Amino acid sequence: METKTVLVDGDVNNEGSYSQAVDYIREGQVVAFPTETVYGLGADAMNADAVAKIFEAKGRPTDNPLIVHVDSKETALEFVEEVSDKALQCMDAFWPGALTLIMHAKPDTFATNVTAGLSTVGIRVPDHPVALSLLKRLKQPIAAPSANKSGKPSPTLAEHVLFDMNGKIPFILDGGPTKVGIESTVLDTTSSPPVILRPGQVTKEQLEQVIGTVRLSSETQGNTPKSPGMKYAHYAPSAPLYLIEHNSKLIEKAIDHIHGKSKKIAVLSREDFAAADYLFPLSVDKLYDSLRKCDQTDADLILACVLPEGENAALMNRLEKAADHKWFS
Ligand code: TXA
Ligand code: MG
Repeated sequence: METKTVLVDGDVNNEGSYSQAVDYIREGQVVAFPTETVYGLGADAMNADAVAKIFEAKGRPTDNPLIVHVDSKETALEFVEEVSDKALQCMDAFWPGALTLIMHAKPDTFATNVTAGLSTVGIRVPDHPVALSLLKRLKQPIAAPSANKSGKPSPTLAEHVLFDMNGKIPFILDGGPTKVGIESTVLDTTSSPPVILRPGQVTKEQLEQVIGTVRLSSETQGNTPKSPGMKYAHYAPSAPLYLIEHNSKLIEKAIDHIHGKSKKIAVLSREDFAAADYLFPLSVDKLYDSLRKCDQTDADLILACVLPEGENAALMNRLEKAADHKWFS
């Protein structure tokens, strides 16, 4: 299959591009599109055969449910039931935006592979003009996980999508770099108090200002069923990644030590380390691009320098997973 990428910005004929994307999705094909968080790999959420193509293209385990994208709160409410007041308050406060709400799905609405057979569904309204234009034209919810190969960093550029999906999907809408750079916060509103299953741009503190107490899934282990996706390896570059405290002396020593073994090292940091063979920026919006750039090098090992105090919670969550919780020592 040939994969075509089309630019959708202010200067080109967007109408033609959107109608092609809509046609592909109506035909049961998979289309990649930008959201404000990361690129998504979208299919008609009511079409099980189309949704199966997402799992196949990503190599995603079928017990890991997908997020459903809709154009508005009103559309979302057509597909869920027993919606809590807190979920409604979150919709008003954070949609469109980087917050996915887990709610009870109405039976027999979405294709069963979207929810991996669960009775709940994760829904969000993306805050991106291209995603919203596509949803408005299609007039159907779009099931879309991040558009990366399963286990790899999520795509924040159309070229990342092409790298992972070339030959596997017919069409990519290129809306430029995604603003946020990491995936949405996932909040389970079916439990009381609500539980953050995946941290993201919308923080615990911001949620608590709107709906009161919110738990982190790590605080509820053993009680609440966790997000199925959390048990799988994530965001991992090819070379082993280690976390290290952002302390210049410590990092310089680590680089010397690794060079002493005739190995090459890539460093992800906010600061310049002249001795590193490769240096890439460490920030929420650049994390996945930096991890992917490490894969383009011959580095034997990657060090990510994290601030000892007050590292961004969502960034830390992704880094810990990408490093499989390994610290350099
Ligand atoms: O920002 C995002 O959320 C991006 C963009 C494309 O919207 N999407 C995304 O999807 O990150 P994905 O499939 O890579 O991550 C979905 C996460 C997984 O951890 C999955 O297990 C969880 O949401 N999830 C989905 N439905 C769920 C449900 N019913 N119950 C618990 N967790 C659920
Ligand atoms: Mg993903």
